[in-house]
Amino acid sequence: MIATWIDQAAHVLMSRIDTLATLSEEPDGLTRSAYSPPMRHVHDLLTAWMHYAGMHVWRDNVGNLIGRYPSRNPQARAFLFGSHLDTVRNAGKYDGPLGVLGPLLCIEQLHHQGVELPFHLDLIAFIDEEGLRFHTAYLGSQAVTGHFKREYLNLVDDDGITLAEAIREFGGDPAAIALDRREPADVLGYCEVHIEQGPVLEAKNLPVGVVTSIAGQTRIALTFGGMAGHAGTVPMQMRRDALCGAAEFVLAVEAYTRQSPDMVATVGKLQTEPGVSNVIPGSVTLSLDVRHHDNDQRQVVCQLLLERAQHICTTRRLKLDWTVVHQNPATPCTLALSHLLERAVSEAGYRPHFLPSGAGHDAVAMAQLTGIAMLFVRCKDGISHHPDESVTVEDVSVALDVVDRFIGLLANHYRTHE
Ligand code: GLV
Ligand code: MN
Ligand code: MN
Repeated sequence: MIATWIDQAAHVLMSRIDTLATLSEEPDGLTRSAYSPPMRHVHDLLTAWMHYAGMHVWRDNVGNLIGRYPSRNPQARAFLFGSHLDTVRNAGKYDGPLGVLGPLLCIEQLHHQGVELPFHLDLIAFIDEEGLRFHTAYLGSQAVTGHFKREYLNLVDDDGITLAEAIREFGGDPAAIALDRREPADVLGYCEVHIEQGPVLEAKNLPVGVVTSIAGQTRIALTFGGMAGHAGTVPMQMRRDALCGAAEFVLAVEAYTRQSPDMVATVGKLQTEPGVSNVIPGSVTLSLDVRHHDNDQRQVVCQLLLERAQHICTTRRLKLDWTVVHQNPATPCTLALSHLLERAVSEAGYRPHFLPSGAGHDAVAMAQLTGIAMLFVRCKDGISHHPDESVTVEDVSVALDVVDRFIGLLANHYRTHE
């Protein structure tokens, strides 16, 4: 039996998500990259909602917005919830914000009931998870764990703005990012609520599920270098067409990956230079994203694909350059926290179902700091990274109920053990 406040909170959450979805860089569809003007607007709204939930609010230097529901004991350690506010291009509206606004509404209820916790409850809205703007991943969460590399500051976006400039413009101090890192000894754990982004829970007819592990991923940028030339005069046999080489590679990626069970690989971006209709493409840079739950298998496929790219280039008299843009191993969730989530799901009246995540999450980066757990919420037809992404208010109610129970279980645990 779901408490009345939860049903109301679920409706508030859906309406807040609709509001955030209007804050976009593009008029037709949701695109919100890190440090963009709509991100600033989202932070303003979220700050007000966090204050209403009794939280202290601040922004760290990389640009994460953080709210703290403080324990009365200033020496207490913190339990963290979080997810991201940036999106892919033409995104769905739940990927990320669900994991910020869900816990926030549970905290709002704790505040209005005057509940005191034996730990600080921190909610982190990460500035950049998708990597849309600087073509990497987990910039926000890596800053929290102390794994943000100084060289990231030199990354440039498509307009030539460096990450350091974007951070400064947003109000942060790039030189002080390292000072914001959390110490493992001060943190009890991290939990992320997220839309499933796949079809499993829907097929099982379950509103929520507990994540077992998150797939490892490798992102590589490959450049096929050829020779630009006149589209009307250079005979076909004399061409060194970079796009033809890249196209052959894209199909090879599909063919190789289909032979490897559970492997997924995607070429999502191609940039052709000079990119005009009457010039033979002189250079193509493309993105390769490879994911699997087994690190060795992922690495073998990456190696094979790079060899294949080299072979294509040799045959076509092209030059290959490549660089690994991002890499993380498969990340298991922490058993003790996952069991607490499992208990919370059972107590909410649902059969706990465990499932792996093929998508990447801030939890991957946070696992370098502390134990992690993830709660998935059923999504319609498994559609995500697409405007049709959808969850129901009923499933959101269940997720809020589970998070509320999970916080209660954690609090009981630390009240009796510390
Ligand atoms: C993030 O959504 C990812 O899995 O790439
Ligand atoms: Mn996400
Ligand atoms: Mn995403």
